[in-house]
Amino acid sequence: MAKELEGFVARLTALGGGSGDSQALYDDWAATYEDNLQQDYGYIAPRIAAEAFAAHAGDKNLAILDLGCGTGLVGQALAAHGFTQLDGLDISPGMLAEAEAKGIYARLLRGDMTKALDLDGRRYDGAIGVGCFGGGHVGPEHLAEIISSVRPGGLLVFYINGIPYDEDDYPAHFRSLEAEGVWRLETTVQSNYMQALERPGWVVVGYRS
Ligand SMILES: C[S@@+](CC[C@H](N)C(=O)[O-])C[C@H]1O[C@@H](n2cnc3c(N)ncnc32)[C@H](O)[C@@H]1O
Repeated sequence: MAKELEGFVARLTALGGGSGDSQALYDDWAATYEDNLQQDYGYIAPRIAAEAFAAHAGDKNLAILDLGCGTGLVGQALAAHGFTQLDGLDISPGMLAEAEAKGIYARLLRGDMTKALDLDGRRYDGAIGVGCFGGGHVGPEHLAEIISSVRPGGLLVFYINGIPYDEDDYPAHFRSLEAEGVWRLETTVQSNYMQALERPGWVVVGYRS
């Protein structure tokens, strides 16, 4: 029988779609986040998204922004693919402290993806955002601002939980953004991102126009 949702994961799932505030939850969760998600649930979204990023990016020296970097699992997965220039951004100081301890990010920025991003004038070659969309996190209305974190032609890879993906109709937002000339959607591929559960999500690849 599939594992049932408990603790922080159950609290997060109950947040549904839209945006919202989950910073306190992540500050509380930071120290046990990785053990909880990886050992208890078999969380593999960072690995799936990093594989998609690597499949679309030949140059390992691209400057990459890890959006909603959390404790740094995505940075770790990108580093395993040979990527060397990683910055991370997150709203939770507790999660950022865990990411800092990994020593794989050149810069870690505290930032809120539901607001204008302060990147010191930088535009990255690529950005990746895993698990940071959905209720209590970031809604699709913020995608245009997020996409502007990369230079024109820059690569964007998102991993989005299937619940907010459907409830907030992300595909419709992707199409609108394409029609508005904000980006070009390349692929959307579904997968199961928690090996102990039936937990569908989507890896989304696009390029800033
Ligand atoms: C499920 S975790 C994913 C962390 C990491 N990407 C991973 O896959 O392990 C979601 C992360 O998004 C961050 N987050 C939530 N809302 C945010 C916001 N408005 N701005 C920036 N980060 C946010 C949380 O603090 C948390 O670290």
